[in-house]
Amino acid sequence: MTAPIPHLPPATPLSEPESRRFAEDVIAGLTAPRKHLAAKYFYDRQGSALFEAITRLPEYYPTRTELGILARHGAEIAATLPAGAALVEFGSGSTQKLRRLLPHLGDLAVYVPVDVSADFLRSEAEELGRDFPSLRVAPVAADFSRVFTLPPEAEAAPRAGFFPGSTIGNFEPEAAAALLRHFAAILGPQATLIVGVDLVKDKAVLEAAYDDAAGVTAAFNLNLLARINREVGADFDLAAFAHRAFFDTAQSRIEMHLVSRRAQRVTVATMPISFAAGETIHTENSYKYTIESFRSLARSAGWEGRAVWTDPDGLFSVHALTASSIRRH
Ligand code: SAH
Ligand code: AVI
Repeated sequence: MTAPIPHLPPATPLSEPESRRFAEDVIAGLTAPRKHLAAKYFYDRQGSALFEAITRLPEYYPTRTELGILARHGAEIAATLPAGAALVEFGSGSTQKLRRLLPHLGDLAVYVPVDVSADFLRSEAEELGRDFPSLRVAPVAADFSRVFTLPPEAEAAPRAGFFPGSTIGNFEPEAAAALLRHFAAILGPQATLIVGVDLVKDKAVLEAAYDDAAGVTAAFNLNLLARINREVGADFDLAAFAHRAFFDTAQSRIEMHLVSRRAQRVTVATMPISFAAGETIHTENSYKYTIESFRSLARSAGWEGRAVWTDPDGLFSVHALTASSIRRH
C-alpha cells in the first residue's frame, strides 16, 4: 500500500550555500561505491509532515512511549535542569515533547528550538508562542551538528539541552559521540542534557516500526528522491525504487534503504548515475542502545549519566546527563 503524500503550501527555498551543499552531498553519496544519502535531508516540509504521520502509527512505538515517560516522570526530569535555564532543543520537530515538560518548567529564561526543517520550525514555534504567551521562544533554523549561534537571551542564562526522539540513534556511534561533544561545547560547562534513546528489543517489533502496513515510512523514505528531483534537479522515477528496512543485530541498528527495482540510469544535476537491479541507496541508520551502552557512549563524549527513566516494558529510555570537562565553542 502507498500512503498519500500530504498537500502543503510551497516551501521556503534553501539558502544558496545550503542548496549547494545539498547538491554536493547528493552527488558525493550517489557516486560512492555504496550509494548513500544523509538522513537529515529527509526533513523538508513534506518530510516533516510524513515524520509526524509516522509518530502516530500503531507500529511506531517510540513517540508514544517517550511521551508516556515524560508524562509520568516530567517533574523529576524537569528537576534536573537549573532554575531559569535557557533550554535548547536539538531537532525540535513538532515540540510535542517539550509541551509535556512545560508544566514543570515554570521559570525557563527562553526556549530555543533548533531544526533544519525551517518552515516547520517557524510554524511550530509560532503555535507554541500562541499556546504559551508567557514563554519566550527563539527558534534557530540550523543544522545542529554544525556550529551555530545561540540567540542573545540564551547567553545570559544557564543552558540546558533537550534531545528527545532518539535522533541520536540516526548517527553512527563515532559521529554520535562527536555530536554529544559538540552539544557540550554549545551548552557550556556543567550543562545538563536530557536525551531520549530507543532501546534494543525484539527484531520483529523493530522491523515493523520501520516498515508499517500503511506505507507511511515508505513514503517518508521515497520523499527524499522527490526532494532531490525538485531541489537538485534529477529525474528519479519514484515507482522504480522500493523501501526496505531491516535490523542488523551485530551493529544494533535499523538500516533503511531505497532499492532499485531494475537496472536504470538517473540524471542528477546533469550527472548520469547508474543503478543495477537490486542495488540500494542507504538512507538512514537508527541505532538501538541498552541503558549501559548509551551511558558508556555518553561518558566517552564527556557526559556523566545522572538519572535514567524507562517505560514499564523497557522499550525506550530518557537520560539526564551532565557535562564534565568540555570548553565552549
Ligand atoms: N524531537 C522530535 C522530532 C524528532 S524527528 C520528536 O522527538 O518527536 C528528528 C527532527 O530532527 C526533525 O524535526 C528533523 O528536521 C530534525 N533534524 C534532523 N537532523 C537534523 C540536523 N542535522 N540539524 C537540525 N535538525 C535536524
Ligand atoms: C528521527 N528518528 C529518530 C527517526 C527514527 O526512528 O530513527 C526517523 C525515522 N525513520 C523512519 N521512521 C522514523
